[in-house]
Amino acid sequence: MTGSMQPLIDALNEDLAFEYAAIIQYITFAAMVKGIHRRELHEFFLAEILDEVEHAKYLAEKIVALGGEPVTTPKPFPIVSSPKEMLEAIYEAEKTTVERYTEHARLAEQLGAKDVQVKLEDIIVEEANHRDEVAKILWMYQGD
Ligand SMILES: [Fe+2]
Ligand SMILES: [Fe+2]
Repeated sequence: MTGSMQPLIDALNEDLAFEYAAIIQYITFAAMVKGIHRRELHEFFLAEILDEVEHAKYLAEKIVALGGEPVTTPKPFPIVSSPKEMLEAIYEAEKTTVERYTEHARLAEQLGAKDVQVKLEDIIVEEANHRDEVAKILWMYQGD
């Protein structure tokens, strides 16, 4: 099974590295965010972490179940300083994450891994929700 599932293992490991990056990004930005909206943004960033931890846990478990080895290194991401730049970076990350999971759900379907396909589709709903929430907060910074 490992042989035929290798492309899916690789895809899930890419997702895992991005989930670890998201967790670190939210913790870092929560700590660093300054200004009049610090309280709300601090709470908002910290509130997203639990979903990403759940995604990472699922991916690691499934990678091992498929015969692979989970990565332990997050994808690097740039540090930015203003609240607007943080929200823009997070918006970009969540948006590309939706696109990546959409691609990987299709790959899972092609390989006949129905359970992975369905779970990735569930995760897409949550990531799209993150993306849309960030977009609504970014609305406040229009014209800045
Ligand atoms: Fe996630
Ligand atoms: Fe997310």
